[in-house]
Amino acid sequence: MKKIFTLLAIAMLALPTMAWADEGMWIPMLLGRNEAAMKKAGMHISAKDIYDVNNACLKDAVMLFGSGCTGEFVSPEGLVLTNHHCGYSFIVRNSTVEHDYLTNGFWAKTREEEIPCPGLTVTRLVRMEDVTSQVMQGVTDEMSEADRTKVIDKNIEKITAKAVKGTHYKAVVKPFYYGNQYFMYVNEIFTDVRMVGAPPSSIGKFGGDTDNWMWPRHTGDFSMFRVYAGKNNKPADFSEENVPYVPLKHLEISLKGVNEGDFTFVFGYPGTTHRYATHDYVDMVANTENPVRIDLRQIRLDRYNAAMAKSPAQRLKYASRVASIANGWKKWQGENLGIERLRVVRLKDDQENKFKEWAKDKPQYKEVLYQLEDNYAKLREIEMDRVVYSEAIMASDFMNRVRQLARIADLSDKEAAVAVGRFLADSREYFEDFDAHSDVDQPIFVETAAYAWQHGYMPYMNTIAQTETELALHLISVYKNSVLNNQNKLEELLSQPIAKVKESIVAINDPAIELYNKAYRFALGEKKRADYNEISANIQSLMRVYVKGLMEMYPDSNFFPDANLTLRVTYGHVKGFKPKDGVYYTPYTTLDGVIEKANPAIYDYNVDRTLRRLCHTKDYGPYANAKGELPVAFIATNHTTGGNSGSPVLNADGQLVGINFDRCWEGTMSDLYYDPTFCRNISLDIRYCLFIIDKYAGAHNLIAEMTVKQ
Ligand code: ARG
Ligand code: ASP
Repeated sequence: MKKIFTLLAIAMLALPTMAWADEGMWIPMLLGRNEAAMKKAGMHISAKDIYDVNNACLKDAVMLFGSGCTGEFVSPEGLVLTNHHCGYSFIVRNSTVEHDYLTNGFWAKTREEEIPCPGLTVTRLVRMEDVTSQVMQGVTDEMSEADRTKVIDKNIEKITAKAVKGTHYKAVVKPFYYGNQYFMYVNEIFTDVRMVGAPPSSIGKFGGDTDNWMWPRHTGDFSMFRVYAGKNNKPADFSEENVPYVPLKHLEISLKGVNEGDFTFVFGYPGTTHRYATHDYVDMVANTENPVRIDLRQIRLDRYNAAMAKSPAQRLKYASRVASIANGWKKWQGENLGIERLRVVRLKDDQENKFKEWAKDKPQYKEVLYQLEDNYAKLREIEMDRVVYSEAIMASDFMNRVRQLARIADLSDKEAAVAVGRFLADSREYFEDFDAHSDVDQPIFVETAAYAWQHGYMPYMNTIAQTETELALHLISVYKNSVLNNQNKLEELLSQPIAKVKESIVAINDPAIELYNKAYRFALGEKKRADYNEISANIQSLMRVYVKGLMEMYPDSNFFPDANLTLRVTYGHVKGFKPKDGVYYTPYTTLDGVIEKANPAIYDYNVDRTLRRLCHTKDYGPYANAKGELPVAFIATNHTTGGNSGSPVLNADGQLVGINFDRCWEGTMSDLYYDPTFCRNISLDIRYCLFIIDKYAGAHNLIAEMTVKQ
């Protein structure tokens, strides 16, 4: 016994990051392993209440919303809650200057008013299964990586085909721990999803990009949708005949709220983490990639923000893209702050040195970290070409249109004809707003390329210009003279017979197409791409060995697999924190804070009269806390990442108490390194959500559908 303790103590000393405190994104099917710890942490329900193949359970109420968010069923009639920022592009798409649901909000008072959202899907997990041994059948240690992949892919094809035979389900197999384990997910995908409700963006996006990734937060970040199904309750494409889907389970909502120290868990679809990445990777991201990405996005944001301030139409036009550009831009800044503050690169390096020491006499492990270092050194040499290509060269709409046109030449006649039709339709829209758009897009095109030039990226530009002014003048002339920006010439070009169109695209010598070809060849040409793929594949397979080694090195640790957009459970406690010396963050915010921030001169801090009145009269109904405040958001130590947005936040009894929507600035490095003193997820308090639906919007029809418990 004593020996185990000493070993554990040494392990914890030697590798503090391997002893998880609150960290972890756990596999629902294997939650039994965490059950004791979760109960000790305060949970009242069982692992089986959360995931059970044979009975309706909480997992039946949780879904992948679209392709990168989470949602949850909150009524027996398929009503879904998710974030405002997850429904954002659909709210924008359904908005016009006349019916501006983004600005004014939207509430369907009847089923007929619910708005179809073509392209939006909702995916429910039917069951999951460990298929490692089937996937590995025929794989040997002697095999090359390429052969290994081939065998695995074939096996996966067989397994998934068999799993869904005779059903309407879709199956996917995903690697875990870099391919040390494989799980199959059998899913049901709903394609008729309709928009039901959204607060105005002054509530749903209150604080905007100013407050994004930050605490204290006052964003009412929710929106509502409804899943429709065929009469048999199975997925069906949109039809007037469809009826609201009856979920196997919907969440019960608790108005009791949460207090500091309370147990909560988050159930959803975290997208990507790099928990086991080595110090080289962290160093590359923090010191090479992030700074360049941040600078380049700043250039675009300055231009878009200026345009958006000009008119409501411009605001709608750029709202969605600015939200996503700004989101990464701000997150990377926070991530770098955390990586520097906690000296993550060094911590990881120390940890790797321990591994090297441990692996010294183990032939299968002793080389792995050195080989990873070699591969990262090679990756570093070409990684930035890709980053600059996508963040600078392809930053403008102009260059994206150039790419689209250039690619038509590579398609079959039949595909090309379809592509030309689509391109022409898009182009007409583009030219409608050409002058105003050019005021934004041309500078973005020029300034991002100039940045790349100044910093020595994209060396082919040196053949174009010797000075920055020369470069700018050249790019402006490319923009002005390209067929892409000349509607008559473009229509003429594209109205020829399709074979001729393809020939002409190649033959016209358009300066923009030429520029695009140069950039593409440089950053993504055949040789570079092959090198890149080879290095990436090497890293993947070395990581497989490294993580396997770590598991052997710490046989008593329960390792969680990196996020891979599969359903996970993470748990923790409601808890404030100290972001810096002299400052303490309390664990929840209230409506008073919204009013405190209110400032008609700042777009992000507009508060409308209705909300002011409700606050003034303290008309909070049953949604106030014991102190008479209306809670808006709270923070907790649940380990979450992108994709967890919209995830239900549940209390010890498995009732819905919040909707996850963000993380705190000081802890955004958690994708690479989780630290319990700084990492917090941010959730919307469900009471604020219901208050907005009920008291603010008067959408009593929606409240009536839900199961709300005092
Ligand atoms: N930071 C949150 C997440 O990563 C919310 C993003 C949406 N909000 C925004 N202001 N861009 O998705
Ligand atoms: N806001 C993120 C999302 O959209 C969540 C996060 O990164 O914490 O998934």
